Amino acid sequence: MSVQIAPSILAADFANIQQEVTMLNESQADWIHVDIMDGVFVPNISFGLPVTQAIHNHAKKPLDVHLMIVNPDQYLSAFREAGAEVLTVHYEACTHLNRTIQFIKSLGAKAGVAINPHTPVDLLSDCIQDLDLVCVMSVNPGFGGQKFISNTFQKIARLKELILAKNSKAWIEVDGGVSSTNASELIKVGADILVAGSFVFSSSDPKATIKRLKDSFPS
Ligand code: DX5
Ligand code: ZN
Repeated sequence: MSVQIAPSILAADFANIQQEVTMLNESQADWIHVDIMDGVFVPNISFGLPVTQAIHNHAKKPLDVHLMIVNPDQYLSAFREAGAEVLTVHYEACTHLNRTIQFIKSLGAKAGVAINPHTPVDLLSDCIQDLDLVCVMSVNPGFGGQKFISNTFQKIARLKELILAKNSKAWIEVDGGVSSTNASELIKVGADILVAGSFVFSSSDPKATIKRLKDSFPS
């Protein structure tokens, strides 16, 4: 798989969400990353189902829904119905992770697990074969525009080893503080999908920024 770019809509202008989604449709973005924050699992509230549905109504790219919420099982069906193609839950929010992963798959979505910066990759050793995606958080989740945590490089390298050792097909996604300054190194150590929020949307020409990012990794 070529390197996938997933701009995070959290950094977009919510008053012009349709235009922002149109821009992403016309861009070289592969997925649209949708950050759901509940004010409990993370110290911030973003948006929920109606906004996800509105994004989906205009999007021509798959929605990669990142659930930063407690009790995600309760909302998985609803987010799937609102258009999620990838449903990512947090390792730290799931007591019965195996059941949650099976449930996501039964909904016909791709199953992802995100790990916070303090969570060791090796804790995924007994579920990695069931996963479609692991999202390695390179900031503490809750806010866009934070500084990249450089320990992420060695976590991704270790995760790649684990995936190969377990014969898993899981993709590695990296989320938080991603920009052109760390993208190449992230890909080099094993990342497959780059999430980028503020780097894309704070630039003067987001479409060109996405293109530059995508073009740095020819398939
Ligand atoms: C952080 C979110 C990220 C965030 C990325 O809690 O999960 O997806 O929107 O934004 P940047 O790229 O600005 O760090
Ligand atoms: Zn995210």
